[in-house]
Amino acid sequence: MQKRLGILTSGGDCPGLNTVIRAVVNHATLTYNWQVVGIPYATRGLLERKAIPLSINGLDLRGIDPLLNMGGTILGSINKGDTLAHIDEIIAGYHALELDALIGVGGDGSLAILNQLQSKGNWQFIAIPKTIDNDVAKTERVVGFDTAVNTIVDALNRLTFTAASHDRVMIVEVMGRKAGHLALHSGIAGGADVILIPEIPHTIKGVCEHLAELRDRWGRRFAIVVVAEGVQIAADSSSHLSCEKPSCGMGQYIADELRHCSNNQIDIRVSVLGHIQRGGIPSALDRLADGQSAQMVAWQNGQVVAVPLEAVLACSPCLVDPNNFLVQTARSLSTYIGNITPAITNIL
Ligand code: F6P
Repeated sequence: MQKRLGILTSGGDCPGLNTVIRAVVNHATLTYNWQVVGIPYATRGLLERKAIPLSINGLDLRGIDPLLNMGGTILGSINKGDTLAHIDEIIAGYHALELDALIGVGGDGSLAILNQLQSKGNWQFIAIPKTIDNDVAKTERVVGFDTAVNTIVDALNRLTFTAASHDRVMIVEVMGRKAGHLALHSGIAGGADVILIPEIPHTIKGVCEHLAELRDRWGRRFAIVVVAEGVQIAADSSSHLSCEKPSCGMGQYIADELRHCSNNQIDIRVSVLGHIQRGGIPSALDRLADGQSAQMVAWQNGQVVAVPLEAVLACSPCLVDPNNFLVQTARSLSTYIGNITPAITNIL
């Protein structure tokens, strides 16, 4: 009997989601002759019992396959909501839509919710990890991360020239929630002089000294500082600042700290890349998300494998290991990335 497969995208969008939808439709149709329906706006679509038929022909425009390089998600997504307050209706929606199986494309937060639903509703459920934050455990790659890194590197390339022309320090705030993967990968690839991530304590004094050394010893009169949005502020940080951390954003906060620490001797500008990081045409790596399993599709040692979703969620969000090779790489490139010693928590 022909099976009916649902697919939904959940959480913040990222490049590559449409590519996943296309891969699922092609694979399910051509390999298994299954019917595929898209569930709009994630669990809200199940709650409202909405399903959009997806067929190879329907996704094809005169032989052109637009989903391959289109950012965002044609199914829509929700990033917040009260899903767990409607758990029984959502489970009933899955059965009312006569689904035999569901594929959920999401980050760790969405996958945790979908995992609760599938275990209570006894669904056949497959997870595909996506997030520009790259913080899903047990997989070396998630859909969306590579494109976001490339978008940031492009911004760093552009900012380097204007920073150099005016002898400025350019602070670039990037996303990532509590994880520093985006900042670390893009900062190294984009030649940042300082990379501040939530996982490694830093000192403003350390940053200032590094910038001074760049200028005095190496004659470099400008610098690029990449700041992850989730960077921590030490509890005893001084109170001279014109704005507090939550309202002004971390890039602005660090800029004020640096100005103060240098007696206004550093000319600083701040760029917050924001949701630009979530847009764009998916890179080649972000188009390689194809696979099938009863668990979560993961990329390990260059292979697509299945890993138990419970094991993934037990270790998520997956943060940067302060001893990993990329952190060592940054240090070997003379990038200031903070101090591993946890004792150093003073901002000044
Ligand atoms: O999780 C992806 C992400 O882009 C984070 O990096 C960021 O903190 C958050 O989502 C932004 O969410 P929103 O789109 O709801 O502002």
